[in-house]
Amino acid sequence: MNRVLVHTGVKYPIVQAPMGWIARSQLASAVSNAGGLGIIETSSGEVDACMAEIARMRELTDKPFGVNLPLLFIRESRIVDLVAQSGVTFVTTSAGSPAKLLPTLKAAGLIVYHVVPNLASALKAVDAGVDGLVVEGGEGGGFKNPDDVSTLVLLQAVRERTDVPLIAAGGICDGRGMAAAFALGAEGIQMGTRFVSATESPVHVNYKQAIVEADDTGTVMLNRKSTPCVRALKTERAKEIDRVGGFDRAIFGSVKEVYFGGDMEASLALAGQTVGLIHEVLPVVEIIDRTVEGFHAIRRRQGERSQAGAF
Ligand SMILES: Cc1cc2nc3c(=O)[nH]c(=O)nc-3n(C[C@H](O)[C@H](O)[C@H](O)COP(=O)(O)O)c2cc1C
Repeated sequence: MNRVLVHTGVKYPIVQAPMGWIARSQLASAVSNAGGLGIIETSSGEVDACMAEIARMRELTDKPFGVNLPLLFIRESRIVDLVAQSGVTFVTTSAGSPAKLLPTLKAAGLIVYHVVPNLASALKAVDAGVDGLVVEGGEGGGFKNPDDVSTLVLLQAVRERTDVPLIAAGGICDGRGMAAAFALGAEGIQMGTRFVSATESPVHVNYKQAIVEADDTGTVMLNRKSTPCVRALKTERAKEIDRVGGFDRAIFGSVKEVYFGGDMEASLALAGQTVGLIHEVLPVVEIIDRTVEGFHAIRRRQGERSQAGAF
């Protein structure tokens, strides 16, 4: 039995990534209704708005959904108790040690997966008692560890040393990526960039179009020598930041002008390398159905070849 399905209660082990302001009920309910796991973000730091989004999810779907608690961005600690008591049963923690939050979350009966960018963090999180890991390589969009490890290598490294269920993230946007992740030991996948560019994503059409138009070299890691290090679309603004070597985090003060105003140069447009694999804006249900079909087609073909002793 697939442990991610058991832990989440969903039909398909496909998770929509937490993304500040974007991963709210409009997108997350579409993912849950299509059989995946929608996740509500709290990295925006807007506690009341995020709790209202959790309540709204119950009106928009009767399917399971989760919440993300990113330690680095928690400004008001009440969010942890609020989420623990919200009735949500699945939480991902990220950007810090999960040890601090685990007693509260586990006492409330929640399943907790922690997002890790390297093997050492994975081992620490397992020691702390998490139920599973979201293993995220440097190909992904958004906040990144500057010492990045690719999803290909990281999944193998973590699988070799741990027994907990793994959700693979970073660089996955279709059935081919999902099949690859499962071959490396994952039992689920998480997609960010693919869902940002979905029809139901609340971001401006300019953002979705920029993702569709970008090729495989269309993103860049910025601020490797400071925090936060991020992967973003190679806009003119991003290229200039790359040239001078870094940015002040105040730049995120205007990120909503990119996300919802469509001014692609107002701040950074976070996105991962899958921009090179995303060729159209699609409804969430189609993204999920195509991913599941592609996944099974590849696994069937490989199973047949393997049974015949062929490669
Ligand atoms: C537009 C965008 C915004 C993101 N914002 C956040 C965030 O606020 N907090 C966070 O923990 N991760 C954030 N991420 C990272 C995602 O949660 C996810 O791990 C990543 O997108 C997975 O890789 P992929 O983009 O290749 O699918 C963001 C990613 C994107 C693309």
